[in-house]
Amino acid sequence: MNIQWYPGHMTKARRAMKEDIKLVDLVIELVDARIPYSSRNPDIDELAAGKARMILLNKADLADEEAVRGWAALFEEKKLHAVCIDARNKGSLKQVQGAVAQACKEKTERDRRRGIMNRPIRAMVVGIPNVGKSTFINSFAGKACAKTGNKPGVTKGNQWIRLNKTLELLDTPGILWPRFEEEMVGVHLALIGSINDQILDKEELACRLINILGERYPEVIPQRYGSEAQAASAAGGGQEALAVLAEVARKRACLLKGGELDIPRAAALLLDEFRGGKLGRISLERAEDFYERRK
Ligand code: G4P
Repeated sequence: MNIQWYPGHMTKARRAMKEDIKLVDLVIELVDARIPYSSRNPDIDELAAGKARMILLNKADLADEEAVRGWAALFEEKKLHAVCIDARNKGSLKQVQGAVAQACKEKTERDRRRGIMNRPIRAMVVGIPNVGKSTFINSFAGKACAKTGNKPGVTKGNQWIRLNKTLELLDTPGILWPRFEEEMVGVHLALIGSINDQILDKEELACRLINILGERYPEVIPQRYGSEAQAASAAGGGQEALAVLAEVARKRACLLKGGELDIPRAAALLLDEFRGGKLGRISLERAEDFYERRK
């Protein structure tokens, strides 16, 4: 789902979120493991103030394992319980229940001291569009879970899914807006295919990807598109990325009628292959690049 965020829409989403958050003990925030900085909502700390917190680094199957570990460590340092998952794969969700208990330990102990036993933890899933919220809820809750009835105060239409004796999940995820203020964020969101309204055209976007890959994963382009692509990237003169794109076009026979290279088609192909994980597990953002920024 792609949502065009405009101020009115954001105000509405914020209001809904504030109301729903009042009803829960735990906020489960999903981010895209390839771009955990750009896929986080800038106001989440304020919105979820006072609640137990968890971060799920989703689509970890597409991200660089080492980079994901770095992010998980960073979030843990910030007292956010982090778990790397592939929401489509139930096996990867096994650790989530344990992390929920850990994240809500204080609350559970507080309840116990007050003599409140076995009150389930109430949680809601939040995140920007396309990070995998619905996929996660479906996989995590599974078919076996009965929905409990509507409860007063819950945004109309929202229901609680009783996962087990200890956990209830709001069945509708909270949709949050991404950061807007940084150009890089838009580029990274566009690269993973999260936004429709491209802030850059595909050719420019593909060139940005080629540059990131050249810096971080120099083996990827030559491995997939041949050594000529590598030679092109070393050509210099500021046109390296375009030269690589031309090699991709040649290698994949992206040709126009007269035999000319079809660069836009090559750009679209490269982006599709990246998004589909065909270039391997690639992270566009590393925690160490954001330590300073996030302090
Ligand atoms: P949202 O509710 O946050 O908007 O996201 P949603 O669950 O709709 O997921 C968006 C897309 O991301 C879906 O693909 C979904 O299959 C995919 N996805 C979710 N989690 C993961 C994951 O951990 N790994 C990978 N590789 N993909 C994931 P789609 O192409 O939009 O739909 P479909 O082709 O799966 O139907």
